[in-house]
Amino acid sequence: MAIMKRKILITGGAGFIGSHVIRLFVKKYPEYSIINLDKLTYAANLENLHDIESYPNYRFIKGDIVDLNFLNILFQKEAVDGVIHLAAESHVDRSLENPAEFVNTNVLGTLNLLQAALKSWGGNLEGKRFYQVSTDEVYGSAEHGDFFTEKTPIDPKSPYSASKAAADHFVSAYQNSFKLPTLISRCSNNYGPNHFPEKLIPLMINNILTDKPLPVYGKGENIRDWLYVEDHASAIDIIFHSGKIGEVYNIGGNNEWKNIDLIHALCKIMDEKLNKEPGTSAKLITYVKDRAGHDLRYAIDSSKLQSQLGWSPSVTFEAGLEKTVDWYLSNRDWLNHVTSGAYKDYYAGMYQNR
Ligand code: NAD
Ligand code: TYD
Repeated sequence: MAIMKRKILITGGAGFIGSHVIRLFVKKYPEYSIINLDKLTYAANLENLHDIESYPNYRFIKGDIVDLNFLNILFQKEAVDGVIHLAAESHVDRSLENPAEFVNTNVLGTLNLLQAALKSWGGNLEGKRFYQVSTDEVYGSAEHGDFFTEKTPIDPKSPYSASKAAADHFVSAYQNSFKLPTLISRCSNNYGPNHFPEKLIPLMINNILTDKPLPVYGKGENIRDWLYVEDHASAIDIIFHSGKIGEVYNIGGNNEWKNIDLIHALCKIMDEKLNKEPGTSAKLITYVKDRAGHDLRYAIDSSKLQSQLGWSPSVTFEAGLEKTVDWYLSNRDWLNHVTSGAYKDYYAGMYQNR
């Protein structure tokens, strides 16, 4: 079989999930050319990609998806035939403070990418792919016993999820109106190495290490379905290559945890790893004011992806959580650079002449 060459633009590749997707594609597909387009916001960290940055099939380009002119020039120059779009503002708490930033990046940025791809691909859509990486949060909050399927009505409840839902609608509209070959996936909460410590799991790990309170929103009864980040990356690989154009695929771990139970499980692992008396880390648990409009439960049904494309999660939560803790404990520099802001210097040091 002839080796297929592709040039794939992955947006947001310096972020948490994007860096795992980039690593998977760069290593698994040496015949592809992978471009990482990232604006390098506070959430980006090129140190995440240190191990693959000199691979010949990888390139980093600093740029903003909100700049349509820049995107048009990029698409013209690079003859990209696939887009995997992860760039976004991704933190719900920040979306409550600054919703316009989320509309700008998540809605306008996505629309710009759609426009630039369509313009550059023109009449020749054969073999092209525009893949929007979305979230289960667009479905809103699930009642106990219910699961989000791909047919669940979109009902976002936070400015973050509203902006992702709007972006998803634009992607579908481009498929319907212009026959752009699109794919959408909606994944549950990810965890694993390189997760920015503003999100629940890395924030708790960092606070335990620095002996700070562990802020539990409300009563800690909210439920999330957790998936190890490499399992999300493997799902993206399968959907990008084998997904049916125009379809939506849910991705999830079938792994629901109440926040407070998860935090206790994490505290237990941290006590063991740090040789502390059982119960030491849990003493840091502090109940704080609830997040505004806090979605009670996310629960995803990923049976379509499992039965039609043969994907399944490979990492159990017990193993994944331990791997994650081990990673943070053996990458204290990474954590220190992120919390001190020094990670921003990496770009200046590594990429100033490129
Ligand atoms: P992240 O915040 O860690 O990374 C986002 C990346 O996008 C950063 O590197 C940032 O610099 C880049 N970016 C932001 N604005 C940009 C712009 N205007 N132009 C170019 N690049 C820009 O996010 P993440 O957690 O890795 O999430 C990645 C994607 O996956 C997002 O689209 C998110 O909605 C989706 N998602 C996340 C989760 C999760 O649990 N984290 C779950 C499901 C879906
Ligand atoms: P988060 O990691 O922000 O992801 P999302 O809001 O996208 O699900 O939060 C996960 C859950 O943890 C959510 O119910 C909010 C809660 N949470 C806390 O209780 N304390 C915290 O400090 C954070 C960051 C989150």
